[in-house]
Amino acid sequence: MTVSISEQSVEELGGPDSILVRQRRDHADIDTLMTACLSDAPDSAPSREAWKSLVQLVFTHAFAEETVLWPVLRRLAPDGEKLTERVEQEHQAINDLVARIEKAGDADPRRRAWMQRACALIRQDIRDEEDLLLPRLRDGLDTRRLREIGAAWEGVRRTAPTHPHPAVPRRPPGNALLGIPLSPFDRLRDASSGSTGEPAYRRLVPPALGAAALALGVAGRTWRRGRSGGGPDRHGKRKTGAAVQVAVGQGVFNLVGGLWPLVHRRSFEWVFGSKTDEWLQMTTGGLLTSAGVAQLLAARNPEDTAQARVTGTGTALTLLAIDLLYVPKGRISPTYLLDAALEAGWLAAWRRAAGPRARAGT
Ligand SMILES: [Fe+2]
Ligand SMILES: [Fe+2]
Repeated sequence: MTVSISEQSVEELGGPDSILVRQRRDHADIDTLMTACLSDAPDSAPSREAWKSLVQLVFTHAFAEETVLWPVLRRLAPDGEKLTERVEQEHQAINDLVARIEKAGDADPRRRAWMQRACALIRQDIRDEEDLLLPRLRDGLDTRRLREIGAAWEGVRRTAPTHPHPAVPRRPPGNALLGIPLSPFDRLRDASSGSTGEPAYRRLVPPALGAAALALGVAGRTWRRGRSGGGPDRHGKRKTGAAVQVAVGQGVFNLVGGLWPLVHRRSFEWVFGSKTDEWLQMTTGGLLTSAGVAQLLAARNPEDTAQARVTGTGTALTLLAIDLLYVPKGRISPTYLLDAALEAGWLAAWRRAAGPRARAGT
């Protein structure tokens, strides 16, 4: 007869390092956090803090289960496929619901009802695991193996994403291939968000300003090199070298800037504010990515830097104009002024890389 792990002693489950005891410990912590979330108004500071900790704990815990535990169970138990499919569906439902809560924001009137529903799903998942799935591991594995799996699960948990990603598959290798690269974004988000209620993108302004200053410094150095390159160097090598540098620098900048909203829309919107037209954001990201790739390809041949220059000045002028037009109107976030400064830097760098003769049109 299967005995729930909630009814077994720590010794019976393989000691404190066993995967079963680690799971039960986490489940108890999750339960405490869920009670804290729901005992206050959902937009109060204690509830928000408890929710933040709950989300981090639940998603790292579940990701490591899907990566380490359920493949073992599928190999071990004849009904492992059916049982793991059931908890994977529960995990997917929790992912979908928490993603919806995060998108809606703290002040959404539906937040409390969604949080209650998410907590009910998490409680159901815990019951299924403690009563049905985890006892199979106790029955099929010795204590040494339970501890080994416990250590592996703990290791994966440390690299796991800390927020929901409904589009990431629930099974390896797809979950690891797509999920682990998202973990740094999630952890950056956690590090930048606090309990003050201040929007995260505003807290990111100081480090963004530092990055902008660094990029402008690089552009300035290129500018100086371009100025000296336009002088008495009769072979034009320095001038061409400066143009290649600008093409590579702006190509990478456009590539990263274009891919960012395509790969991780949420973190992009934290910095640059939320968008209503997803298709427009996707289109802009795709076009900017194409521009970056075209510049990098052109930079491979010094003869083609004129093409990179046309692409680069075109994108920089367009984005600079949009930033300067729509920030004052309040249509886009003030953080776009950072982008404006960078775009102006690229235009200046291209101007200098072209040299005085080209600037004079001779
Ligand atoms: Fe669990
Ligand atoms: Fe779970």
